[in-house]
Amino acid sequence: MAQLACLGGKPIAQNWLEKNELKFRPDLERKYLMEAYDSGIWDDWPGMDSMSARFEKEWAAFNSSNFCALLTNGTHTLQVALETLDIGVGDEVIVPGLTWQATASAVCDVNAVPIIVDIDPETLCIDPQKIEGAITPNTRAIIPVHLYHRLADMDTIMQIARKRNLFVIEDCAHTHGSIWNGKSAGTIGDFGSFSFQRSKLINAGEGGALLMQNEDYYWKVVSQRSCGREMKEGIKVHSGNYRITSFQSAILLGKLEAHRTNAAIIDRNGLALDRAIANAPGVKPLRRDGQTTRQCSYAFVFLFNPDAFDGMDVKTFRKALSAELGLPFDTTYTPLDHSEVYYPHTKKRHHLNEFYKKAIHPSRWELPVANDIWKHKAVLTQWKIFGCPPDQAHFLTDAIVKIYENRYQLIGL
Ligand SMILES: Cc1ncc(COP(=O)(O)O)c(C=O)c1O
Repeated sequence: MAQLACLGGKPIAQNWLEKNELKFRPDLERKYLMEAYDSGIWDDWPGMDSMSARFEKEWAAFNSSNFCALLTNGTHTLQVALETLDIGVGDEVIVPGLTWQATASAVCDVNAVPIIVDIDPETLCIDPQKIEGAITPNTRAIIPVHLYHRLADMDTIMQIARKRNLFVIEDCAHTHGSIWNGKSAGTIGDFGSFSFQRSKLINAGEGGALLMQNEDYYWKVVSQRSCGREMKEGIKVHSGNYRITSFQSAILLGKLEAHRTNAAIIDRNGLALDRAIANAPGVKPLRRDGQTTRQCSYAFVFLFNPDAFDGMDVKTFRKALSAELGLPFDTTYTPLDHSEVYYPHTKKRHHLNEFYKKAIHPSRWELPVANDIWKHKAVLTQWKIFGCPPDQAHFLTDAIVKIYENRYQLIGL
């Protein structure tokens, strides 16, 4: 019987991810940063040949999108998209129960009501079967999130949206460069909203972008990011300042260069990791929809089955796996009905009236699937794992087999 690493035994892999296939281009990031500095154009002022304008062109082309607009972050992108669609007081927007709080908070920030829907237990993205039942005469939009390691079922979501005359804003904060049935994630709905925050695949510390195919939307977005100025005759939307700096855009340009290579690597290696999970006992990969042409994930997730491990707690399993592979494994975000960072009803700005206060109270919602996954099943690690070459993926299987075979060392501790 082998001793588990979390009990002092020898780990399955030491320096498992040392040989990491992901490429980075700090040389280009520095070069573009210096170019931005020397140009003296440090902001994203309309009409200037800025680093931001350059990145917007490149990001739109990379995703085969008609338009791209950079903004401050992936929360403001959602808010600005909603306001472009004139969504506000009296409107409802459907969002998934498992996501970062921004997806729902942005809806409150335009004084609309987030209608929170449970997730598909096999992809962790919004369950399209539950969307229809959540639609009311006040529903204006759906915000599917391409969460962690899967894309939301865009075929069904777009079908529902077309039938019920709803807008779709794809929250792509977790996916940069994924492709659904030949179309880039973020170009299928009315908007694609991206975050370039520190933890993301492409990041500049902070930052965000909207992709859109409709020219009027584009001019409304650029008006909003620049204090409501009229950037095209007759098109303006009252707003604040949501502009990014050229220094962020310079870094994004360098990151995008690396991502051109990494996108295919992440997809290929992600599939190898899924296979490694499929080959291991008591665990299951997330379901990859056949429409997924390319999956560029923010995090790798699989599902643990406590019964198969004779009642072992998922926390114990994650700790044991982290020790075997020298890599931290964690759980998902807290579902929105329990989230420590989603409590919009407490904010005076949202106290429009008693009805609204109740309507945005997170405890209104029951999300049994999201809660079960979060508490009992999810095993998640950040995107660094996608650098693992396919011939090293078996270490993941080996580690799980070892924990499974030696589970009685841990059960009841
Ligand atoms: C799903 C999702 N949507 C939106 C956001 C907001 O992005 P940002 O942090 O850039 O505001 C995040 C950030 O992590 C996210 O994970």
